[in-house]
Formats: sequence, C-alpha cells, structure tokens
Amino acid sequence: VKVVFHSAGLDFECWKRLLQRQLPEIDLVAWPEIGDPRGVRYAIVWQPPPGLLTALHDLEVIFTLSAGVDHVLDQPDLPADLQIARLSDAGMTPQMVEYVICGVLHFHRDFDVYQREQHHRRWQPRPVLESKERTVGVLGLGVIGAAVVDSLVSLGFRVRGWSRSRQTRTGVATYHGPDGLWQMLAACEILICLLPLTATTRGMLNRELFDALPRGACLINCGRGAQLVETDLLEALDTGQLRGALLDVLEPEPLPQHSPLWRHPGVRITPHVAAQTRNEQSVTQIAENICRHEAGQALLNSVDRDLGY
Ligand code: NAP
Ligand code: GLV
Repeated sequence: VKVVFHSAGLDFECWKRLLQRQLPEIDLVAWPEIGDPRGVRYAIVWQPPPGLLTALHDLEVIFTLSAGVDHVLDQPDLPADLQIARLSDAGMTPQMVEYVICGVLHFHRDFDVYQREQHHRRWQPRPVLESKERTVGVLGLGVIGAAVVDSLVSLGFRVRGWSRSRQTRTGVATYHGPDGLWQMLAACEILICLLPLTATTRGMLNRELFDALPRGACLINCGRGAQLVETDLLEALDTGQLRGALLDVLEPEPLPQHSPLWRHPGVRITPHVAAQTRNEQSVTQIAENICRHEAGQALLNSVDRDLGY
C-alpha cells in the first residue's frame, strides 16, 4: 500500500521507519517524488501542498498531522467525498496543560504587572488572591480542553467550561451553545481558548466577547489565530477592559514584522509551540486508522466536515 507523506517540519526517514515497523506492507513516499500516483489512497500531511489533491485521483483518506484541521478544510480543491482523520492528543495534551497552567499562574500571580513594574524600578507588592477566589474559563472541552479544566480544578481554581454540546466535568461549571457562552463569560477573569477554528468560531474573540468579561480580564489563546480580532484585542488592552493576553497562535503565522502585537506591553507571544505532536503516538494512530479503513471499519477521530472539526 503506497502512502504519500508531506510535512515541512517532520523527519520523513523517521516516519518511514516508525510506520514500517507497525505496518511493513506500507510504502511511504515523500511528496512530490511519489512515482505513479494511480492507486494512492492515503496521504499524511500537515496541509496538502499545491497540486497534491489534483494529482492523487484515488485518494480516500487524508491524515492530518495536527489536532486542528482548518488548514485542510479551507483547501478549495478538497474533494467532497474525501475522508479526513485528525490526530487526537498524540502527546499534545500534557504539553498544553503545562502551557496553560504557566499562563494562568502568570496572570493569577501578577507576573505581568511585576514585569512592567520592574521596568520602572518600582517595588510595589500587591495582595495575593487564593486560587479559589479566581474564576478561569475554558472555551472548548474536547480532548485537550477537558484535561486543561481538570488540571485547573486540581489547583483549586473556580473553573467554567464551554462546549458546543452539553458536557459535564467534575468540579467544573459547564455551559454550552451560544446562550451558555454569555452566561459563562460574566465571571471569567482569565479566559482560555482551546477551540477549533470553524465558521462559527472564526473571529469570536472580539470586542463583544471582551466586553462580556469582567473588567481587567486576561486572555490566553491556544486555539487558532483567526479566532482573534486583533484590532479589538488592542483596543480592549488600551482601554483596560483586558489586562493582558498570552497568544500562542496568530494570523498569519509567522506574525508579520510590522504587527503592533510584537511590542504591545500587554501581549506575550509564543510561536505556536504550546503543544507539539509526538511522532510515535501520531504514527500509532495513523497505522491503526489505515488498518481500520482497509478492514472496512469507520475511522477514529474522523472530521465532521459540516461542523468543521
Ligand atoms: P476536540 O477534541 O475536537 O475539541 C473541540 C472542542 O471545542 C469540543 O469541546 C467542542 O464541543 C468545542 N467546540 C467546537 N465548536 C464549538 C462551538 N461552535 N461552540 C462551542 N464549542 C465548540 O479538539 P482538541 O483536540 O481538544 O483541540 C482543540 C483545538 O486546539 C484544535 O482544533 C487546535 O485548533 C488547537 N490546538 C492548538 C495547539 C497549539 O499548539 N496551539 C495544539 C493542539 C491543538 P463539543 O464537545 O460539543 O464537540
Ligand atoms: C496544532 O496546532 C494542532 O492543531 O495540532
């Protein structure tokens, strides 16, 4: 079985070795040197490179090398019957938990404020709030969001979580749907976005949402950059409606040199590193899915193209 692979950032030879160890009958070939494209039914990609979708007429499944699939679904030449399977967790969840906890504690313990004070050589202690006095909200209670809310609960925070369908989590006040969002936001002093980018979530981190948060709230975005309206964020930071933002994802990436976000004192930026997939776990998931598809079974972690995730 020939499988086409394309990823700018990953080591092809390592992937070939790992996949062949699990499925010796697989012939992994690196795009674009793939030989005869006829009969190729599987592709493993971060994003389909130009020409791949038109060259592979017999493609049945795209395996994305990511949890988010927005960059695959927005391909104009994506055939309607092509199945897409994403990675789920693949080693990312504990990394995202670390990142978010780091960001939440940064704001909770006023490190952002002290950083600015230090700049002015000011020694100005502030009262310390206990975690149980702080409300943290998480948008998205999927594989990653669920682990994040659990870790926040274990640190003693008052935690609220929001999803599309109704979810329950021990120790978490959960909300769902558009109405639930506005109810949830009113108390969230720190808001974390772990949503997929879809038609519904694009641009939702905007002025209206910031205004629904308590004054001086903080934002952590680890979903996708296009969920954030950058000008609304800058305005909210400048008026004090928001106190600070930690952004791991931006639009576009890399963030252009001229972006005001680089130098804004209320903004911290990391270059889309909150959580990275692990090769072994990713290969295991894809190998299992190839076996399932070959056996006529439904794919795991298959993407609902109507919902966009
Ligand atoms: P997931 O398991 O599919 O979870 C998605 C969550 O978002 C679910 O709880 C879903 O609700 C909720 N959701 C989707 N659309 C919604 C809407 N319109 N309204 C309310 N809730 C909505 O995804 P995941 O694996 O946790 O990953 C989430 C996202 O994190 C990815 O899509 C990606 O964009 C981002 N990510 C970023 C990094 C990074 O390094 N920055 C790394 C990995 C992932 P239901 O529970 O009702 O389905
Ligand atoms: C990373 O951002 C992912 O979606 O896996």
